[in-house]
Amino acid sequence: MPAHIIVGTQWGDEGKGRVADYFAARSDIVARYAGGDNAGHTVRVGEQSYALHIVPSGVIHDGVVCVMGNGMVINPLKLADELRGLAERGVDISPGRILLSESAHLILPTHRALDRAREVSRGRDAIGTTARGIGPAYTDKVARSGLRAGSIGRPDDFAEEARARIVEHNCLLADRYGADPIDVDAAVEALAEAASFLRPYLADTPLYLHEALAAGKTLLCEGAQGTLLDLDHGTFPYVTSSSATAGGALTGLGIGPRHVARVTGVAKAFSTRVGEGPFPTELSGPLADRLRGTGENPWDEFGTTTGRPRRCGWLDTVVVRYAARINGLTDLVLTKLDILSGMGELSVADAYIYAGETIWEMPRDRDRLAACDPAYETLPGWDEDITGAARRGDLPENALGYIARIEAASGVPVAQATVGPGRAQAVEVL
Ligand code: IMP
Repeated sequence: MPAHIIVGTQWGDEGKGRVADYFAARSDIVARYAGGDNAGHTVRVGEQSYALHIVPSGVIHDGVVCVMGNGMVINPLKLADELRGLAERGVDISPGRILLSESAHLILPTHRALDRAREVSRGRDAIGTTARGIGPAYTDKVARSGLRAGSIGRPDDFAEEARARIVEHNCLLADRYGADPIDVDAAVEALAEAASFLRPYLADTPLYLHEALAAGKTLLCEGAQGTLLDLDHGTFPYVTSSSATAGGALTGLGIGPRHVARVTGVAKAFSTRVGEGPFPTELSGPLADRLRGTGENPWDEFGTTTGRPRRCGWLDTVVVRYAARINGLTDLVLTKLDILSGMGELSVADAYIYAGETIWEMPRDRDRLAACDPAYETLPGWDEDITGAARRGDLPENALGYIARIEAASGVPVAQATVGPGRAQAVEVL
């Protein structure tokens, strides 16, 4: 199979990292196409746990080539740190194995400062960003004033170009937002150091991918964030600034649609969201606490990147159906099914009530969505511990009924369900 895209069907944090890790073992190349260090994937291998923010999950698998595509925004300081951290743990980070698109845009320290300043200035309308500078870096890309990764390949010019941007951003910070400017010399020095470390990784990645696909290699396109955080198709303005959906994989990597054979949507067995914005099935109180976990376990619902507790709620199949449509999903992977064990009856929203009427599709307007109440169907739960389930027949009838409900609502088959954090805790259900 040539190209296989993995996307999140909800608001991110669906467990795409572990799903990408699973498919990476069967791929030659794993490429990320959007976002930056706002993402956080935790991949557990035995007793080891790797928190990846920028480098694709495939890096844990020997021999898999990892590509950071042109659609990404890269913080050079964070990427250099992440690569050095992986090397210290024995992961092969040789250039040639890891490629950074020359056309990816760079996140500068002032982008982070601008992200924070803009959030403060939004007041009660704050988006709840990860404060990683994602929005301001993409703003500069669209304004055609951003600095691309390729600029670090020109050491003589890079420091000067970075300095010019930082000075300009500092004016904006001070004049527009009344925020403290950042130390220009220190920032430029740190960037120049990271740039010299990253220089060997620069590549014409669309050309590399074209040649690899022509040679019959398999490519896994690893999505970050989720469908409802997509700039065009998410719950705007409470979204990220990139194209997180399947279409973004094509522009974000520079490949054509004819290569794509499979689009897998990752759906968590319940819903979570970090940051602000509408969330029709949101719960509060003990049920939300039960879904979230205490924070003691790495899989509890606290942000990998920011540590923020996630908002939690029942599964919303209106959302999954919407994601199936926007991404052209061929199959689903359902994650964290084990968390629902022992919860008693389970509610699933398969429609909304808006202005007294039942509506079956998600409204795109944020005020209409915010005014929607979920129309719940109640499904019987199960008490069995399913963390040891290895095959479909090991799952209780009611867990299979839950899966069947999702398939019926979304029109997409569930290929796999995960029942615990370990690599082996995944059940093929198709
Ligand atoms: P930004 O991407 O930092 O600009 O944040 C915009 C919105 O996307 C905020 O609501 C963030 O919480 C959310 N967001 C960004 N990245 C992730 C992610 O990887 N998982 C979940 N939410 C995210």
